[in-house]
Order: sequence, then C-alpha cells, then structure tokens
Amino acid sequence: MKILVTGGTGYIGSHTVVELQQKGFEVIIVDALFNSRIEVLDAIEKISGTRPEFESFDLADRRLTDEFFSRHHDIKGIIHFAAHKAVGESVEQPIKYYRNNLDSLMNILESMTKYNIPNLVFSSSCTVYGQPDAEHLPVSEKAPIKKAESPYGNTKQIAEEIISESINAYKGLNAIALRYFNPVGAHDSAMIGELPLGVPNNLMPYITQTAYGIRECLKVFGSDYPTHDGTPIRDYIHIMDLAKAHVVAIERMINAKMKKSFEIFNLGTGTGYSVLDVIKSFEKVSGLKLNYEIVGRRAGDIEMVWADPTFSNDELGWKAERCLDDMTSSAWKWEQTYRKNS
Ligand code: UFG
Repeated sequence: MKILVTGGTGYIGSHTVVELQQKGFEVIIVDALFNSRIEVLDAIEKISGTRPEFESFDLADRRLTDEFFSRHHDIKGIIHFAAHKAVGESVEQPIKYYRNNLDSLMNILESMTKYNIPNLVFSSSCTVYGQPDAEHLPVSEKAPIKKAESPYGNTKQIAEEIISESINAYKGLNAIALRYFNPVGAHDSAMIGELPLGVPNNLMPYITQTAYGIRECLKVFGSDYPTHDGTPIRDYIHIMDLAKAHVVAIERMINAKMKKSFEIFNLGTGTGYSVLDVIKSFEKVSGLKLNYEIVGRRAGDIEMVWADPTFSNDELGWKAERCLDDMTSSAWKWEQTYRKNS
C-alpha cells in the first residue's frame, strides 16, 4: 500500500514516514527541500531499514505535479505536510505563503480527482482557533474559527475551506484535517528531530540550542499574562504521538471507517504548560541551568490555548501518551546527537 508523503524530509513528515514504514506502508516522499535536508533520507533508512522513494520538485508547479501523478498510479493516500510555516515571515512575505501553501494544495486536489486518489490527510493547526474565549478552553473542534492573525494561519483556514468545498463537489474524495497544537521533541533514536534553518522561532529548539551554547540566552516573551506564572500556555505534544496519529488517520480512511467524507481532529494532549514549566522540565531532565531572561511580549502571541482531545481519543482511538519530560529529554538528546555528528 503506497502512501505519498509531501514534505516528508521535514520535521513532522520525517517522523510520520518512519511510523508508516514500521506499520508496513510503502512510502514515496515529494519534497522540494526548501526547509529541510536530503540527509534526512539516510536517517530514515537507518531507523526503518528501508529507504523511501524520493522525488524533489515544487508541488506548487501544476505541470510538474500532474506529471508526477501521471507516473504514479499506485498511490492510495496522501499525507500533505509540504508548506511554508514561519509565522513572522508570512507577515513580511504573504504572497510567498499564499502561492506556495495554496497552489500546492490545489494542484494535489486536482490530481487526486484526475487520477482517482481518494484519501488526503492535511496538516492543519490550532492557529485556526486564535485565542479561544474562556468558555471554549480547552478548545474542541466545535470552537469558532477566529480571524487568522497571520497569512500563515490564513493559509490553514483557507486550505480547510478549499478541501471542504472540493469534497462537496467531487465524489469519491475523502479528507482528514489534523489540527496540531505545539509539536516538540524528537524520535527515540535521536536520528531525526526538529532542524530549523537559522535562528529558531520556536521555543523548544531555542531552549536546546541555548543549552548547547549555540545561542547565548533564551528570551522569554512576556511574564504578565494571566496564567499561573505569567508566561503563555500551550499544549505541547510529542512528535512521536503526533506521527502515530497520522498513521491512524490514513488507516481510518483506507479501511473506510470515516463517518463523514471530511473530518477534523485536534491533536493535543489536553494539558497546557507555560513557558517556564517547559524550561523547568528541561532543566530537570538535562541537569543544566538554562540561561534565560524575561523580556517583553512577542507581537501576535496568544495568551493560552490547549486542546480538548476527547473527539480524537474517542473517534480515532488515539491518545497522546508522552509527557512533558519525555518531550524535553528527547529534544535535548536529539540536539546533542545532531551537533556531535555534524
Ligand atoms: N517563546 C519564547 N521565546 C522564544 C520562542 C518562543 O518565550 O524564543 C514562547 C512564545 O512566546 C510562546 C511559546 O514560547 O508563548 C511557544 O512559542 P512557539 O513559537 O514555540 O509556538 P507558537 O505557539 O507561537 O506557534 C505555534 C506554531 C505555529 C502556529 C502557532 C499558532 O509553531 O506554527 O502555534 O498560534 F502558527
């Protein structure tokens, strides 16, 4: 059973590829390597024992995408990760984000109808909820969608609409959108993990790079939020739990277990932690003192959000199993292993 994973050399993609292979799926990756490295294929092969098929081209190119699918009639499902994902960059270069993230999705949907590929799993984000009102915390899939705070977030909202409308229009198409909360951590083998190019935007790689001495000091953005310690709260989820959910989703589609032809699931643990909670967990598992300072708020940050994963737990039979200490310790092991080997 062959599955196409777009963006399969990226952070979430690479972990999902390994999980799929270990479940017996054959994987083909398409990745333009805009924000990832070809060496990830070697690491995937070391972990799973199988090198996935790989092609490098831009899925936003309609002709190349059609040409790819015309050569691959055996693809039974697509997990679509490939997208730009830096919130700040999307504010500075919105067209880059709309063009890449939406053109690639539309090209894939068009090819799915043309070549009769029925199943799509789409990478969405809790960013669609913005800052939920107090009565919607923890946030379930029924919470209202808020106006997106960035072009990146807007591409996720528009993408969900494009998928929904396509499914209404074209018989035989099915999709599952997975709304991720904050994915962190690395594979148990420490052979793959998050590998941001340049200065990290996200908390966990900034923590591990600071501890390793690559960054001087972590800036904690704001301590005046209405939370237990004043720092913002997020639902951090271990990348391995997240990867497993993708396998469950694609199996649900292939085994015709869907209740509707377009389903949406939150992927979170159901527990929120503050920035200082994450730092404390890191210091505990690493035995190090992290160099950090509290500075002003970062523009656009929301105060607090965490998932109500009840629907995913009940419907998918999936549950995030790993705790915050597992997340920080695996991220730290990955950072050290990667730096020693590079
Ligand atoms: N933070 C710091 N210092 C840093 C980096 C982050 O204090 O150097 C804090 C942030 O202020 C925030 C928390 O750590 O409170 C988490 O920040 P991240 O940047 O790791 O994650 P975000 O919640 O801001 O972003 C995530 C996803 C985005 C998505 C966004 C939607 O990474 O893709 O949620 O809210 F768009």
